[in-house]
Amino acid sequence: RSFLQNLGRVTLAGVIVSGGTFYYITQRDRHPGLQLPHDDSKKTIAILGSGWGASSLLKGLDTEEWNVVVISPRNYFLFTPLLPSVAVGTLDSRSIIQSTRYITRHKKRAVKVIEAEAQDIDPVAKTITLSDHSPIVGATSTSTINYDYLVYAVGAETQTFGIPGVKEHACFMKELGDAEKFQGQLMDCVETAAFPGQSEEEIDRLLHMVVVGGGPTGIELSGEIHDFLEDDLKSWYPELAERIKITLIEALPSVLPMFSKQLIDYTESTFKDAKIDIKTKTMVKEVKDKSVIVESNGQRHELPMGLLVWAGGNTLRPLTKKLMSYFPSTQTNRRGLSVDNHLRLLVPSTSPDPTGSSSIFALGDCTASSYAPTAQVASQQGAYLARLFGQMAKREKALSRLSELAKADVADPVKDEERKKEIDVIEKQLARAEQQRPFHYSHQGSLAYIGSEKAIADLPFGSGNLATGGVATYLFWRSAYLSTLFSLRNRTLVASDWLKTKIFGRDVSRE
Ligand code: FAD
Ligand code: NAI
Repeated sequence: RSFLQNLGRVTLAGVIVSGGTFYYITQRDRHPGLQLPHDDSKKTIAILGSGWGASSLLKGLDTEEWNVVVISPRNYFLFTPLLPSVAVGTLDSRSIIQSTRYITRHKKRAVKVIEAEAQDIDPVAKTITLSDHSPIVGATSTSTINYDYLVYAVGAETQTFGIPGVKEHACFMKELGDAEKFQGQLMDCVETAAFPGQSEEEIDRLLHMVVVGGGPTGIELSGEIHDFLEDDLKSWYPELAERIKITLIEALPSVLPMFSKQLIDYTESTFKDAKIDIKTKTMVKEVKDKSVIVESNGQRHELPMGLLVWAGGNTLRPLTKKLMSYFPSTQTNRRGLSVDNHLRLLVPSTSPDPTGSSSIFALGDCTASSYAPTAQVASQQGAYLARLFGQMAKREKALSRLSELAKADVADPVKDEERKKEIDVIEKQLARAEQQRPFHYSHQGSLAYIGSEKAIADLPFGSGNLATGGVATYLFWRSAYLSTLFSLRNRTLVASDWLKTKIFGRDVSRE
């Protein structure tokens, strides 16, 4: 009995301590201390975007020596790897976003966050023109701000190749609104198929879900739709569920070209078991209201469908093209902005930048580099830039102290000796600060969820690669993403959503 009493006491103490710690951390996060105000004597860094690259930079940036302004049309960070889970209601949309102000209000110096879209950048005048495109617009909705340094991290938009009907009739899977729209349309298709008197042909059309693009976005979404069908729709709509069909269309000979061959085979066989029809070497030529025109082996076919999701890859945003047009001799890569190995925009030697070296940095999906356009790359680049700005701040501080010391008129020989020593130390510091290390990417592996509680992973292992797939990899996938989520709030919400879905299933009501 005494053992049980002791166990009870220890458990109670554990619950109190962990509850208290949890409460302390959450309250500290909610009520951070006072921040330093904007300082006119400091230089201004303008950051465009609030995605992976920009948020990682903001997280690591010491703002004490800078005035920082963040401009983005969305005032939050979106954890894209879990977006397909939101599309079928496994997770709530609020669980995978984190307000940008949550990051900025923990900074030493207050950071200005402006919810707006950058419309134009003038690299000579160092200004950004921005405008508010949100549904509620005030009397003033355009503005121009000055910068000393610009960090360009606006990501990419979905590539449609100008294929007719894609923009008009397809859903996308890039932003939170895309996932929410998809969820509503999926349920609308199912409810419309259940409408009394619907013809058999129309029911089959409405229940045909087409995913275009066999990259990781298309694969993960197809897997999630399959889970929704198996776990929930089958019990809520038993008369319809068997007729729901998922087709994945890919122009290349195989899906997931970035994964190793055995994982591609594993994904294809898992999809076969899950009755997801993969059509490779099939190119979408047109998307209509109720059908999609595809071409394979030189033959065109029309596939009736209820819902089509377009996951055809990335392309540049118009603003990025505009920025490139200012530097036609150095910005020639059609995949994105060219940067040097310190992430500075490549500008001609006769650059319009009067300082001679570019004051624009670019990172993430808007750049053309040897790395894949992934969150991993963008966040490592953001962290690198935070360190680079840290070094630059030290350099600026040292330079200003140096000019103070150089001007000082010290009559006392002892004090003059001290002054010379300090100059010596600062010059050494400056020499070190000049040697800024280039960006180095460390690949942590590729992971993707393929449905049926299975995931695939290509992980660097020693000097080679470990390719693994299955249920254990799925548990690893979950724990890896849970730990990389932005905040304790996100981690708590996602974990409780997973539990909620396991216990109660996904919600089938349509908003
Ligand atoms: P983004 O994160 O896209 O951020 C761009 C920011 O710029 C946004 O805040 C946007 O609102 C803002 N912006 C846009 N236009 C303007 C403008 N005119 N002015 C100012 N701001 C602007 N990668 C992985 O490594 N692992 C994964 O598991 C993974 N899963 C993914 C799943 C999905 C469904 C998707 C779509 C992508 C996934 N990716 C994944 C890729 C990853 O999301 C991107 O590589 C990453 O978001 C790139 O970061 P970024 O900062 O360059 O751009
Ligand atoms: P993607 O570029 O990887 O794949 C798009 C696919 O669509 C291509 O295979 C292309 O052949 C196909 N396609 C394009 N047009 C087509 C047409 N008309 N008909 C048929 N097929 C067509 O794009 P995705 O999946 O959106 O990924 C974008 C980036 O985000 C990639 O770099 C990817 O690595 C990353 N990402 C990573 C994830 C992960 O690591 N789990 C998850 C999602 C995205």
